[in-house]
Order: sequence, then C-alpha cells, then structure tokens
Amino acid sequence: MAKTLRVNGDRFVPMITERRIKTKIKELAQRISKDYKGKVPVFIGILNGSFIFFADLIREVTIECEIDFLKLSSYGDAKISSGNVKMLKELNCQVEGRDIIIVEDVVDSGLSMEYIMEIIMKQNPASFRIVTLLYKKEAVKSPLHIDYVGFIIPRDFVIGYGLDYAQRMRNLKAIYRLKT
Ligand code: IMP
Ligand code: MG
Repeated sequence: MAKTLRVNGDRFVPMITERRIKTKIKELAQRISKDYKGKVPVFIGILNGSFIFFADLIREVTIECEIDFLKLSSYGDAKISSGNVKMLKELNCQVEGRDIIIVEDVVDSGLSMEYIMEIIMKQNPASFRIVTLLYKKEAVKSPLHIDYVGFIIPRDFVIGYGLDYAQRMRNLKAIYRLKT
C-alpha cells in the first residue's frame, strides 16, 4: 500500500486499503439487499463526503432503489467539527411513506446525523436506517443507533475515499489517518 502522505505540512498514514473497503461495501450491500427485499428504498447521500461510498454501495445493491442527496456543512476547512450544522442543499424526493436509508462517509460527533434524523422524521418516512462507512464511536456525543457500519475507527482525522482535508484529497482510493 502507498506510503506516508504529506498534506499542508501534516503527515497521513495508510489506514484502510482499497481492497478492504471494496470487500466491506459488498458485505454491507448484501445485508441491505436482503433486509429490503421486495421494497424500493430511497438512498439519501450526505454530500460531499459520501459521494464515492454512495456510488460504490448502490452499485453492489441488488434490489431496486431510488436516490437523492442532502448537502450539509459543519466543518469548514478545519479538522475538528464546529458543531454548527447548516443545510446547503435540501431533499427533492418525497420522504413520506418511503423507506429511507441515509448514506454517510463518517459519523464523528453525531451532530450532523441528529440534524438529518430530525429533518427526515418530521416527514413521516415508512422506515429510517443509517449506513456509514466509518464510525468514530468514541466521539459520538449522544447515543446513536446505526444499522449498517463499515468500520469502527478511533477519533483520528481521516482523509481519502471521499473524505477531505480542506476540500482536497477526496480522490484518494484508500483511507489515510492523520499521524499524531
Ligand atoms: P459529525 O457531525 O461530527 O458527526 O461530523 C460528520 C461530518 O463531518 C461527516 O459527514 C464528514 O463529512 C465530516 N468529518 C468528520 N470526521 C471527519 C474526518 O476525519 N475527515 C474528514 N471529514 C470528517
Ligand atoms: Mg459527510
């Protein structure tokens, strides 16, 4: 696997390989396809971070589905969550009566997810579940039920596979963590 990366004077080291990500996504997609058999869920991707995971995940899903996107911002260019969530793009799909699956790249403090849940629940979905590639379980502020988790990771700052550092490095094929 690729070696240490230098970004803005910070060093990042390999954490999850492209191959491990692929295998995990197949596994998640199989579980989802089985759980939603006979249904047509709506996958809602949280932009920008989830775009690569989202595209790879739904191509492994074997049931019919629809998609939509929500865009939130909370981080700015910092490495620590500001805790201040703003909506930058609203949903276009009808949520009422639908089986909603939120697709996130990473759940960190959980504040974005709480905000998203509030928006979705107000619109009476038939069901609501979350899939996240990465879960910083120790960082979550209040308990959160996540149905499909790719990898539980420490509180490290991570980049690649959709995740950015000051908007860059999203195009890395693997996931790297900040070396502290
Ligand atoms: P939370 O609201 O603190 O759970 O943060 C969620 C959002 O912050 C995620 O959807 C990511 O877009 C971003 N984020 C959290 N941790 C990281 C990280 O380690 N690297 C890059 N982005 C992150
Ligand atoms: Mg995100």
